[in-house]
Amino acid sequence: MDASVLTQAARFTSRRVQAMPGSMFAAMDTAKDRARLAGLDVIDLSIGASDLRPPEAALAALRDALYDPATHGYCLHSGTRPLRTAVAAWYEARFGVAVDAERQVLPLIGAQEGFANLLVACADPGDAVLLPDPAYPSYFGAVAAAGLETVPLPLLAERGFLPDLDAVDATSLARARALVLCYPNNPTAGIATPAFFDQALAFAERHDLLLIHDFPYVDLVDDPADAPSVLARPGGLERAVELYSASKSFHMGGFRLGWAIGQAEAIAALTRLKGAIDFNQYLGIQRAVVAALREPLAARRADAATFSERRSALLAALAAIGWHAPVPRASMYVWAPLPAGERDSSLFCQALAGATGVALAPGRGFGPSGEGYVRFALVREPEVLREAVARIGAFLDAGPR
Ligand SMILES: Cc1ncc(COP(=O)(O)O)c(C=O)c1O
Repeated sequence: MDASVLTQAARFTSRRVQAMPGSMFAAMDTAKDRARLAGLDVIDLSIGASDLRPPEAALAALRDALYDPATHGYCLHSGTRPLRTAVAAWYEARFGVAVDAERQVLPLIGAQEGFANLLVACADPGDAVLLPDPAYPSYFGAVAAAGLETVPLPLLAERGFLPDLDAVDATSLARARALVLCYPNNPTAGIATPAFFDQALAFAERHDLLLIHDFPYVDLVDDPADAPSVLARPGGLERAVELYSASKSFHMGGFRLGWAIGQAEAIAALTRLKGAIDFNQYLGIQRAVVAALREPLAARRADAATFSERRSALLAALAAIGWHAPVPRASMYVWAPLPAGERDSSLFCQALAGATGVALAPGRGFGPSGEGYVRFALVREPEVLREAVARIGAFLDAGPR
């Protein structure tokens, strides 16, 4: 690139945007395109976009809303009262704890938007945030956008993918404003226990941190007891904010709706920030999510069972080709150590996609501690997952590249 282009780029690109890491998934997109050009039928298990159908009641509510002129205008930043109230009722039914729909609940344009704005709302540039490693990649961009520094919390298999909070050094802690957790975890599929959340809350209390629990996989668990809410633990509502998502609970990723529940001061700060920069989601989509939230919780169990069945099919097929992965109890992912002899998750995934059309997510794309793993997203039916594994088996049998 010549110097004038560089100068130009720096003039109109903030240091915060320059600090945003490039995505390893761009290389995967290229590999998928190459596979398509070569005539391969791509099986894309690299992205966690649910392929299940949204609840019928949600689609019907949205259809009716489209022709209701009352839904066509702006919606102010705090969303509608019916949605806030439906969220509060849903939370109480799920976790047995009452939350104040006005002070402790805030609709979001997706959990991802909420996460990024919450960092800006609760911390100042130069502050630090304790962030899991590996983690959902959008966290890295959000941290850069907020001008924050990352203190990585390695998530290791031998600790059940829970961070060792006692290992964080005192200097980092003195600068930290927030602790981020996500269970059931993306990408590792690890789960947290109520006892771990009690420990995390005590740690956050001791170091005066806001605990941000990204909780989009609340409904994707074999046993709901494996998805405890940190807000339902003693002191949780005074110290933590949880982020939920219609993308995962109701398979409505494209509709862009989530909600935050928790610590009233942080919710107020986020409301104020969102009010300064945007309006909230289309009223029809809010009505759709109200309808989904009012469905019996049993409806979500059926979706979880679908992912569980897919997980079993994938793990059995992998075991049959000699690739053994731990058996998760939650989420829509399988986090598998690289096959023997493979060292670089990105090179492995690109070569696999190029040769077979099967796209997986390289562990390194989720952070340094993700190297050595790949993530399978269970977003296709069992027979397609078995077909993907058959192709992987043939690829591995073909020997070293
Ligand atoms: C951990 C995590 N947080 C947030 C999101 C995105 O949620 P939303 O679609 O509500 O922005 C995802 C999507 O995969 C995720 O895995």
